[in-house]
Formats: sequence, structure tokens, C-alpha cells
Amino acid sequence: MSKQLGEPLLFELSRPGRKAVELPVSDVPDAPLADLLAAADFRDDLPLPELAEPDVIRHYTHLSQRNYSIDSGFYPLGSCTMKYNPKINEEAARLPGFARLHPATPPRLAQGAMRVLYDMQHILAEIGGMDACSLQPAAGAHGELLGLMLIKAYHEDHGNGAIKDTILTPDAAHGTNPASAARCGYRTAAVKSHSRGRVDIDHLRSLLNERVAGIMLTNPNTLGLFEDNIDQIAELVHGVGGLLYCDGANMNALVGRARPGDMGFDVMHFNLHKTFSTPHGGGGPGSGPVAVKKALIPYLPSGLVAKTADGAYTFEKPGPLSIGSVAAGFGSFMVILRAYVYILTYGREKISRIAENAVLNANYLRMRLGKDLDVAYNELCMHECIFTAKRQQKAYGVKAYDIAKRLMDYGYHPPTIYFPLIVHEALMIEPTETESRETLDAFVEAMQAILTEARETPELLSAAPVTTPVRRLDEATAARHPCLRWSCDVSDGANDA
Ligand SMILES: Cc1ncc(COP(=O)(O)O)c(C=O)c1O
Repeated sequence: MSKQLGEPLLFELSRPGRKAVELPVSDVPDAPLADLLAAADFRDDLPLPELAEPDVIRHYTHLSQRNYSIDSGFYPLGSCTMKYNPKINEEAARLPGFARLHPATPPRLAQGAMRVLYDMQHILAEIGGMDACSLQPAAGAHGELLGLMLIKAYHEDHGNGAIKDTILTPDAAHGTNPASAARCGYRTAAVKSHSRGRVDIDHLRSLLNERVAGIMLTNPNTLGLFEDNIDQIAELVHGVGGLLYCDGANMNALVGRARPGDMGFDVMHFNLHKTFSTPHGGGGPGSGPVAVKKALIPYLPSGLVAKTADGAYTFEKPGPLSIGSVAAGFGSFMVILRAYVYILTYGREKISRIAENAVLNANYLRMRLGKDLDVAYNELCMHECIFTAKRQQKAYGVKAYDIAKRLMDYGYHPPTIYFPLIVHEALMIEPTETESRETLDAFVEAMQAILTEARETPELLSAAPVTTPVRRLDEATAARHPCLRWSCDVSDGANDA
């Protein structure tokens, strides 16, 4: 791996006896810790690298310079909503009272943090059109699991736990939806999408019966399209005693303009780390608050913040029907805090600008790029637009994968590809509201240049990327047999990437 990266590992840079600083011998007597540990617990034979300070600093600086981030460029990763994270969020996160908050701090000593949580519970409930909100889940998928546990608790409490064993998810759903349902003990059934990319109502009807505990819908859906039959879907699902779950990962299209609660949803999660900024990627850090309608409030987990008559903030004692605890302490407090700052920066009057500009930017790209690359469902989209490279694949053997890799040579993070699964050769592009017209124009020009290459020199695309420290990886091997550690014993194969 080190050769490919052109950056030696610290172990390879190591030279015997090299040190950064050498502290004088301590004149403080040994701490009693030594009495607690046996001599065998102290090791002086670990093969740690020995380096001078500049070697270490330069090594890590080189690695950091190879990072691609939202601070260094456009990140059109559809569904993941990678928007710019304003530095004011970081200023708030660095305030000592927040930065040094210990998860076990008693609430009475953390009233500022408790107020942030209290306010966010109310703000999110209002944005979602819901009645209450738990901030506990640590990611969108965790929120999905909690939401389904609430649905289950509701049905059990109403005597239907044994009958209602099925959760419906559309065939375009994010993989976490059926996975969360299965994790919660439900069987799942997929609802087909029709030719306009929305739930096929006739197919939904054919799946509805007394076993349906609920349906999980993303609105706008993963094709970037608004489920325009949502009223009818809600009526049908409620008609068999099922509940509606909104996967709120796409709230970027709705904030301040439309509310899942008004569309008939009973429970939803937010992806704070997407919709309301806060840096994320590679699986975290995240926060997936769950907001519910009145009927589900009794089952909410512990960790709800209440305000007492004398104005103090405290954790509410969970009621007898609560599903219990799903996270410790203040939840993903730093993510919640950054989202709070993002929301307050816009304020009540201007918060709809998030959705308005996200939708405008996505449609700008749809119109400009749509001349060269086919749009999967070519109509007004919401915050993201799904293109398809099916034509390029047929004519020149160029896949969505090749286009995504080539974008890296042009200095862009690749978009999401091959999702949703129902679109062949999908490229899912989400610009977000934080990008300027100039950035979008430059991206379109890069895509146009790549599409010209696809026609004239397709071999350039199948070899891409050529400018990155690592060229095309065998992704299946990288995912299944990751090389994550260095070993001083070369015979154990750990260093063979
Ligand atoms: C539509 C949709 N639902 C759910 C999730 C899961 O969210 P998280 O990654 O925070 O677990 C994602 C994440 O990519 C998503 O795009």
C-alpha cells in the first residue's frame, strides 16, 4: 500500500533511536498504578516506530493533503447531502462548555446543553409537522430502527403485535429501510414503482392486508421525485391499520416548505448530518432524531428533555410504555449542536431557502447536463437528479462507474452511482443549496468534457482515475479483505494489500 500511495508508512520511516523530544528523567515518585499491575503487564518490546518530529508532521500533513473534502471542492454525492459546513457551527462546537461536556454530566450542571436539546426537540417536531421528537439515535439507520420499534410497540399495545408482521418498502428504497425492518423482526415486501418513478398504487393495493404494520417511504423518494400520491397512500395504509414511516434523509428538499406530518406520516427520522450540515462521511458521525405524532409519544425512549416550572431543563422520566433506552447521555450532542446553529443561522423566516435553493440547483443541473446525459425520469426534480449512462454504455462501452472515476481526474468527488437500483447505470447528483452557479457551471463543463471523451477516446475513461495517488482499485477485494494493519512479521500477510 505504501508504494502505491507514494507515502511511506511510519514503520518504514522508522530508524532506531530516533525521537521527537526527550523529556528529562522525572523526579516525581512512581504512581501507585505500578502496584496495580503485574510486571508482565508492562511491555517494552512493542515494535513501535521511532521517528523525529518532522518525519511525523510531514507524514500526516502529506496524508491530509490527499483528502478530498467539502472544504476543498464540490461533493455531489446524491442521497448523502454533502453540503458546506459553515465555520460558525465549529465556533459553537468549540465553546468550552460544549466541547468539554462529559456524557455523564448531571443535567443540572449542563443547562446550556440541555437547552440546546430542548429547543431542538421542538424545532424538529415543528419542521416535521410532528408532536414530539427524540434526539437519541446516532444515525439515520438508527433512527429507522427506533421508528420501527415505536411502530411495533404501538401495535403490541393495541393488541395487534402478533398479526402485524410486515413492513412495506418501495423497490427504490435505500437499503437501510428493509434492513432496519428486518432487524426489528419484520418481514418486508417491496412495492413496485410505476413508470413515473412513484409508488405504483395498484401494486400497493395488492399488498395491503391486516398483516401490514406500516410502510416506509422516502419523500421526496430516492429518485429525487415527490410522491405526489402521498395522500392516497396514507389513506390506504391507515385503512388497514398500518402506520406511515417517513425516511427523512431527503428533508433537504422540504425544509420550511412542506412537512411529513401534514402528508399523513406518523413517524419520521431526520438525518441532521445531512439536512442541517455538520461534517460527515464514511459512516459518521451522525444524528438521526425521530419525530412522532401524538399516538406514538407514550413509546418514545428515555432521554427526552423537559422544562420544569422554575425554568430548569431536566431529563423526563420515561413512562411505563416507553421502549427504554437507545443511546447514552446527550446523544450525538456535537452533531445536534451544529445542526441547531445551522437552523438558527437561517431563522424561521428564511429556513425555506434551504429547500428552495437545493431544488433550484438540482433542476439547474438537470436542465444543463440533461442535454448530454439522459435523465432517468425527466420532469421537475426535487433536491437531486438521477441521470443514466445507459446510452453511453451501449454506444461506447462507457459505464456510470467510468464517468464517476474520470470525474476524480477533473478534481471532483464522484457522485453516487448504481443507486437507486431500479435505474440502470445510475448517476445520482445532489448539488445542495450551498453551491454557487459558478461551481455548478464548472461541474457541467467537466461532465461535458468527460462525455466528449466517452465518445471519442473511451479508453481514457476505462483507465481513470490517472491523477490520484491510487489508481483503480479492486473494490470487491478492498471491501472483503481490507488491509487495515501493519505487521512486523512479513510472513503473516497483513501488509499485502
Ligand atoms: C435515503 C436514505 N435513507 C437512510 C439513510 C441512512 O442514513 P445514515 O447513513 O445516517 O444511517 C441514507 C444514507 O445514506 C439515505 O440516503
